[in-house]
Amino acid sequence: MSSVLERKPDELAVPYQLPQVPFMSPDIVHLGVLDKWLEDDKLWVPMTQTVSFKPLLLCASQGYYVNLLRVRQSGVLSRHRHTGPVHAIVLKGRWYYLEHEWVAEEGSYAHEPAGETHTLFVPEGVDEMITWFHVTGGYTYVDPQGVAVGYEDVFTKIEAARKFYEESGLGADYVKQFIR
Ligand SMILES: [Fe+2]
Repeated sequence: MSSVLERKPDELAVPYQLPQVPFMSPDIVHLGVLDKWLEDDKLWVPMTQTVSFKPLLLCASQGYYVNLLRVRQSGVLSRHRHTGPVHAIVLKGRWYYLEHEWVAEEGSYAHEPAGETHTLFVPEGVDEMITWFHVTGGYTYVDPQGVAVGYEDVFTKIEAARKFYEESGLGADYVKQFIR
């Protein structure tokens, strides 16, 4: 019997013939996330006048979310402590943490470990920053001494998106396509 890699590609072009497992979640596919999705549209959920997010996946069942964060201001965005790890890929602009030497430039990947507290800063001259974030768990907004002043997690994201899509005419249920 030849190995899978030795066989001609067309011999392998047969879909899986059995039913998928019961209770499996449906797939999610968003086309054009690196270009068309960066443009202004009604999916961007405003958090403030200058900060918005666009959901890709709001995973309520596992307590994480994947989104695009867009910031149109320079200076401190927030100081927060993470309960879970974060993966980030900068799609536009640049930013850094006041606690670190490095700068996350366009095209960079950054990993934020669980437990870290940091202060996100967008430098002068960056008109727009857009970053893909995979955020596990939640994060607590803190003052410089670590005293909690607020929090964010997949559920605050779901609620913000649900509310905004309802107000903007897309309908509250529009958010459901992003939830698993
Ligand atoms: Fe963070």
